Amino acid sequence: MAFPTQVRIVEVGPRDGLQNEAAIVPAAVKIELIDRLGRAGVATIEAGSFVSPKWVPQMADSADVLAGITRLDGVSYPVLVPNMKGLEAAFACGAKEVAVFASASEAFSQKNINCTIEESLERFEPVMAAASEAGIQVRGYVSCVLGCPYQGEVPRTAVAEVSRRLLEMGCYEISLGDTIGVGTPRKAVGMLDAVLAVVPVSQVALHFHDTYGQALANIYACLGLGVSVLDASVGGLGGCPYAVGASGNVATEDLVYMLHGMGIHTGIDLDQLVETAAFISNAIGRPPASHVAKARLG
Ligand code: HMG
Ligand code: MG
Repeated sequence: MAFPTQVRIVEVGPRDGLQNEAAIVPAAVKIELIDRLGRAGVATIEAGSFVSPKWVPQMADSADVLAGITRLDGVSYPVLVPNMKGLEAAFACGAKEVAVFASASEAFSQKNINCTIEESLERFEPVMAAASEAGIQVRGYVSCVLGCPYQGEVPRTAVAEVSRRLLEMGCYEISLGDTIGVGTPRKAVGMLDAVLAVVPVSQVALHFHDTYGQALANIYACLGLGVSVLDASVGGLGGCPYAVGASGNVATEDLVYMLHGMGIHTGIDLDQLVETAAFISNAIGRPPASHVAKARLG
């Protein structure tokens, strides 16, 4: 086991979390959430997504959100883009980092972005070229790496192949999504091993949802292989509108508590993070889905 000494947390609550709320959260609340996360020391905060508002109305105000946040030095505010239209909208808002999202499952690709995996990669080509020309970094997501809500099992060879293709296209980091949180530690490590045969560990991130309560166990197991970038969602917000039954990502405060307890640095202030979980939970009218927030807030 060679645990990293430092981990970069990618906070996805304002996007992955709030994209799944039944009630649309006002832009002012999203802005306050993002600003609080930045002040708590989170260095990467996914701020929204430029997708079709017919598909995900919860993210339709991402331009207002990007215009309203106070950008802190050293903090990155990436946004999701599925195609050139999304990239152009992101450019217009001054985005300095974007993320494309593919799936390791054909069935999920169709439900989520209305095309095959191959077609999605073709769509990303002009996005990668334009982003590179503009000097903008692109992160690549792979969904359903440990199971699919529509197709069930997803072969790890498919996960490795989509990861390899995204890396080859120029993504600087590949985020492996257990979209519906069905993975368990051995399976997660087996999948990660397959990806590490084609992607350097320094370019791999883990994006684990906590639907079955396995996310921290999966992360702990994978940390031993040297992964040092982890996606998480404050208050355990979230899910995916095209993955029925998916619950939130691993809660950022639970992850930070575990990492700090292991002597792994994150740069995040846990107290401020818990206050932020309380803020957003209050705004959406639901208690935070995290152990640490429950323990600290009662
Ligand atoms: P489509 O219907 O096949 O696309 O959707 P289209 O090109 O035919 O366009 C249809 C309409 O959408 C047109 O408008 C376009 O202009 C518009 P109309 O003429 O009907 O008025 N449109 C757009 N509008 C705004 N921004 C855009 C854009 N593109 C087209 N970028 C499309 C294809 C990809 C657009 C659609 O399927 C879509 O937006 N899907 C997004 C789904 C999504 O956001 N899912 C959640 C994020 S992924 C996730 O959560 C997983 C992750 O967390 C990792 C994990 O957990 O595994 C990342
Ligand atoms: Mg997700």
